[in-house]
Amino acid sequence: MKILGVSAHYHDAAAALLIDGMPVAAVQEERLSRRKNDAAFPLTAIDWCLARAGIEAEELDAVVFYERPMLKFDRILTCALRAFPHSWRSFPHAMKNSLGEKLWVRGIISSQLGVPRRKILFTEHHRSHAAAAFLTAPVHDAAILTADGVGEWAALTVGRGARGPGRTAITLLREIRFPHSLGMLYSTFTAYLGFAVNEGEYKVMGLASYGRPTMADAVRKIVRRTADGAFQLDMDYFDFHTTARRSFSAKFVDLFGPPRDPLDPIDLESAEGQRFADCAASVQSVLEDILVDTAKALHRETGLPDLCLGGGVALNGVANQRLLNESGFERIFVPPAPGDAGCALGAALYADRIHFGNPDRDFPDHPFWGPTIEDGALARLAREDDQPVEELDDSVLIERVARDLAEGRIIGWMDGALELGPRALGHRSILAAPHSIQTRDRINRDIKHREQFRPFAPVVPIEVAERYFEMPPGGRRLARFMSGVFPVRPEWREKLAAVTHVDGTARVQTLERAMAPRLYALLEAYGRRSGIPVLLNTSFNLSGEPIVNRAIEGYLTFRRGGIDVLVAGQTRVTKRATGKSA
Ligand SMILES: [Fe+2]
Repeated sequence: MKILGVSAHYHDAAAALLIDGMPVAAVQEERLSRRKNDAAFPLTAIDWCLARAGIEAEELDAVVFYERPMLKFDRILTCALRAFPHSWRSFPHAMKNSLGEKLWVRGIISSQLGVPRRKILFTEHHRSHAAAAFLTAPVHDAAILTADGVGEWAALTVGRGARGPGRTAITLLREIRFPHSLGMLYSTFTAYLGFAVNEGEYKVMGLASYGRPTMADAVRKIVRRTADGAFQLDMDYFDFHTTARRSFSAKFVDLFGPPRDPLDPIDLESAEGQRFADCAASVQSVLEDILVDTAKALHRETGLPDLCLGGGVALNGVANQRLLNESGFERIFVPPAPGDAGCALGAALYADRIHFGNPDRDFPDHPFWGPTIEDGALARLAREDDQPVEELDDSVLIERVARDLAEGRIIGWMDGALELGPRALGHRSILAAPHSIQTRDRINRDIKHREQFRPFAPVVPIEVAERYFEMPPGGRRLARFMSGVFPVRPEWREKLAAVTHVDGTARVQTLERAMAPRLYALLEAYGRRSGIPVLLNTSFNLSGEPIVNRAIEGYLTFRRGGIDVLVAGQTRVTKRATGKSA
């Protein structure tokens, strides 16, 4: 059976293709269109998935959209009516968005792909998140928690999943509905702190490490706990439910002070800069507390040792680490793409296993479902551009790149198929030695153009992770897709300075050899040279651009930015002009 999953029209559109229950292709539209967070209907991604499998759209048995447009429309309409007349300006905007595209998804899919309407199915948004988290995890029974900004109505769900012959099911036990949303709470602070919503949430988490939760009581005033263990936002402090243009109200500003102007740099030495850091720390700590309490209750209720986490909130690695330490669950599984892009895969899996009742299959435990680097493409590009090219056997290449790293060079690393999800997990990465603050600053300044407070992540062979990082049992699994933040052991912090955050932590990736054998071999080779098999690993992209996909994008990024050496497959390219590289 051939099932295509699609997510679109909010942010991060994607397509995913399952054939006979197994994934064959999945990619975000932005990686192909080169528009960051591209939300457009992912025609290019769909075309690529079909081409990858060598099939035509007519051969699909089903196309599954990741949410129910009518329910979403119901929510937008209801909220607009509730807020009337306050909402009268934003109402036409909301209607236009819904009516223009979101509502007519079946028609769009049918006409664009030539698929009959009867083959087009819809899953609920949070069921897609739940399926993406649970049906990709190597567990047969688990509790499930999903949390994001909002889907149709639900913004947080708890439930349980079971899979196996004849018993695959996802049962959602309870939900918390819009506007009471942890994702919207965090996004409101993201906007207040002057960052772009749906993108700057990482920055709030990074900034939180520089502050103290001195305003946690104020945050608890605007997000109140309810007697049944849930929470409610006090909507007097928010505006996101009435207009798309503003998320916090005048009362919010009275409580927390003036918002940050996005154009002003954050000066952490100033009282104002510290206030923003404290604000970030405060919302972070309240978010963590709510998630921990919710997960504790779910653990008590289900009695299960494993938790699958989905939704954009599952990208909060600091919260995930607290969940692992405090919720009672022994293991936590976060997929590589817990956000809406991963819902394309989740929707397809939900349809396959649950709607059609197809046999349970173990999902391959890696994120590499996108386009593959074409052999020889990088060498051709570099030769045409008259730059030094070497094509080397793997063992020679790995040793050569390990030497580059030891000598302080910054490497653009492209290998195999592109990752699904926001994180570079070894196939489209910028790599560097982990000890040098100067290297970190150079990547921030010359390549990523990022704020100084943003940390970089380390990658380490899974077998030796605990030597360098303090990980509770279950930590190595949580770190498989960089989903947890853990303390760097104090004795290693200086030697791992480029990947240690100001609070002594790191968002570590624990790498198993089978998942990315060439990167694993590079870690070993670098370890033999330096004594520490750890590398700085950050996503291969320039600021504001999607992660590179093809050799040409890697090459242009290498030529424009401060990357010293570019590797794709067997090819190693350096820059003639800089004279830095051998
Ligand atoms: Fe979502």
